[in-house]
Amino acid sequence: MMSDRLAHFEMPPQWSTMREAARLEQKSQRRIIHMEKGDYVSAEFKPPREAMEAMMQSLKLGYVRYSPGPGIYPLREALAEEMTRRGRPTTAEEIIIVPGAKFGIAATFLLFLDDGDEVIMPDPGYPPDEFWARYLRARIKHMTFRNPRQVDVEHLANLITPRTRLVVINSPQRPNGQIVENTDEVAQVLARFPQVTIVSDEIFSHIVYPPYRHRSLATYPELKDRTVIIDTFSKSFVMTGLRIGWVTAPVHLAQRYDILLQNSCTNVCTIIQEAALAALQAPPAYREELLACLQRKRDLAWAILTRSRKLIADNAQGSFYLFIKLPEGLSDQETVRKLLQHGVAVVPGSAFGPAGAGHIRITFTLDDASLREGMQRIVRLLDET
Ligand SMILES: Cc1ncc(COP(=O)(O)O)c(C=O)c1O
Repeated sequence: MMSDRLAHFEMPPQWSTMREAARLEQKSQRRIIHMEKGDYVSAEFKPPREAMEAMMQSLKLGYVRYSPGPGIYPLREALAEEMTRRGRPTTAEEIIIVPGAKFGIAATFLLFLDDGDEVIMPDPGYPPDEFWARYLRARIKHMTFRNPRQVDVEHLANLITPRTRLVVINSPQRPNGQIVENTDEVAQVLARFPQVTIVSDEIFSHIVYPPYRHRSLATYPELKDRTVIIDTFSKSFVMTGLRIGWVTAPVHLAQRYDILLQNSCTNVCTIIQEAALAALQAPPAYREELLACLQRKRDLAWAILTRSRKLIADNAQGSFYLFIKLPEGLSDQETVRKLLQHGVAVVPGSAFGPAGAGHIRITFTLDDASLREGMQRIVRLLDET
C-alpha cells in the first residue's frame, strides 16, 4: 500500500500539455511549434562559453566524487557577492547550492510546514508550490491580484492568521511576466507578522527588461532574516537541464537546508557547480546579449499579438512569457486543444491556478521564424472564433 499522502499525485496540467504535444508530434510526425515550454526553445540560446569549458575541464580533472553538501565554497562565495550586489548583504554560509530552484522550493516547504499550517501563495502561481503544500497537508490560501503589478496588501494582511507559516512572493512573476511594484507596502505589511517566513522566488531575477527593475523583499532590513530567496542558473544562464540553483537564507536556516540536502541528494554534481561558477564570472556581455535577444523576441511576439482584435495581454516586464487573455467565454483548456490541432502548443492558464482560467501562456524563446509562425497562427485562429 502506498502512503495516503500520494492520493493527490497527478501530473500537473502544465507538464501534461508538454507531454501531449510531444506525443502528438511523435504519433502524427507533424511539426508542432513549441510555445508551451518553460525553457529556451531555440538552439541559438547557449550557456556562457566559459561555463561549458569549466565543465569539460573539471571532467578532465576527474571531479566525479562527492563534494561538500551545501556547495563548493568558491561558488557560495561568488553567490554571496551576487546577493550582496542585489541589496541583501550575504555571506557564503548563507548560500546553499541545490539541484534547481524547484528542489529549493520543495526543501523550503519540507522545512517549514506541518499538518494544518497555512501557506499563502499567488494565484496564478507555480504548480509545485501547491503540490508540496498538499503533500505536507498544509492549508493553501490563494493571494489574488486585481492589478497584476501590485500585491493587494489589505487582502494579504487579511489572509494571514497565527497559523500562517509561509508567504510565497514570486517576482518577476510568472506566468504573467509582471514585476511586483509595491514592495515597500508589501514589506510594511509583512513586517507586522513576525511568525511568517517569506519565500521569495526570484528565478527570473536577471531577465528583467529596461526600464523595469527587480527588488527583492530580502533587501528590506526588517525582512532580511525572515526571507528565503530561491534562485537558479536555469533561466539566467540557459542551464535549465543542468539542474542547479541556490537558496539564500540566514545561517541557522541554511544549516537546516544542509541537513536536508545531505539526507536526500547529497550534493549537486561538482562539474555543474564549476560550470555555474564560471557562468557567474563570465563577462557581463553574456547577460546583456541574452537579455537583448529575449527583448527582441518579446517585441516580435508582442507586435503580432497587438494586431489581434480579440486577444489582450500585458507586455512582459520580465521572464520570457506572455500571458494572453482569451475572449470572454472561451475555455483555456479547449483553446489549448484547438491550437494543438493546428500545430501550436501552449499552456492553459488554469494550470497555474483558478485565476489563470481564460488565459494561455506562451513562451517566446523560439527561433524568429517559428515564433512569428506560432504567434500568427494563434492570432488567426482565435480572431476567427
Ligand atoms: C516560479 C518558478 N520557480 C521555480 C522554477 C524552477 O526552476 P529550476 O529549473 O531551477 O528548478 C521555475 C521554472 O520554470 C519557476 O517558473
